Amino acid sequence: MLTRTVGVDDLDAMVATLEADQVVALPTETVYGLAARAVSRRAVERIFQVKGRPADNPLIVHAASAEAALALCTDVPGYVPRLAASFWPGPLTLVLPSGVAWPWVQAGHDTLGVRVPRPAYLRQLLRRVGPLAAPSANRSGRPSPTTAAHCLADLQGLIPLVVDGGPCAGGMESTVLDCTGPDPAILRPGPVTRDDVRRVLGSPGTGTPDAPPRPAPASPGTRHPHYRPRARVVLADDAAEVTEPDAMTIAPVLTGVRHPRRYADVEELARNLYAWFREADALGVATIYVQRVPETGLGAAVMNRLHKAAAPDG
Ligand code: TXA
Ligand code: MG
Repeated sequence: MLTRTVGVDDLDAMVATLEADQVVALPTETVYGLAARAVSRRAVERIFQVKGRPADNPLIVHAASAEAALALCTDVPGYVPRLAASFWPGPLTLVLPSGVAWPWVQAGHDTLGVRVPRPAYLRQLLRRVGPLAAPSANRSGRPSPTTAAHCLADLQGLIPLVVDGGPCAGGMESTVLDCTGPDPAILRPGPVTRDDVRRVLGSPGTGTPDAPPRPAPASPGTRHPHYRPRARVVLADDAAEVTEPDAMTIAPVLTGVRHPRRYADVEELARNLYAWFREADALGVATIYVQRVPETGLGAAVMNRLHKAAAPDG
């Protein structure tokens, strides 16, 4: 199959492909997604095939507006509209009891993960074709793509269309929040932080993400092996000390290392981390040293991904 690349202004090409029940790789504010019309079993099954995704891992449904997203759900707790008003469009996925019967999207669960993405072109597209199911546009076991080139590296020849919108603004996948109970629980840390949620929902008992911690059903995706570069990932307190020649070193301050990747702040680390992992694989380095960041704010999401990359068992 020939894979064509278009810009974000070519909505007609996206609409034609999606309405033919085919899949499209496209940029969101977090990472690139592999999108198909959520109503179409055939199209969504193609996502699982192309990615090599385990069948028990549900997909996030993207909608044009909060109204459109919440219309797909039922038994919506009172705190949810406040989250939607504060963080949508944006990098927050809400898991709610499903009001639709899309087993091909829900992968055996009775819930649905929904979010309203930020890019204007994408919300325009969603208004034209309806809700889109979209996981990250990588082959399973690879890092999430943050450029069109990453999508092509994994999926060229397997999908008809890639939308090139340049590098993603954020670079980390959305926060996934379980909203099926009286208080939300974070299933996957992301750009919308625990403090962000707490600021909006206020004091404990009125829907805070951590009080009391209720046993959250683990996000199904957390059971599956996660991406690890071929290189060993080592978290360091001071990566600037590393002198090993056959290594990539990711840190704020770097002198004299062979493959330096410098970040000024945690936002810059989040934006570039997956691209650097892919570069390390391409270079064939033996070790990637990454200087730790504090596990607060966006740092919680970055360290969550780094711990998984560094874990001996994935
Ligand atoms: O930023 C993002 O979230 C990107 C962009 C494309 O939107 N998407 C993304 O999708 O990262 P994916 O499939 O790579 O990760 C979705 C995560 C998985 O861990 C999945 O298990 C979880 O969300 N998830 C989806 N639906 C769920 C549900 N109904 N209940 C619990 N977890 C769910
Ligand atoms: Mg993914």
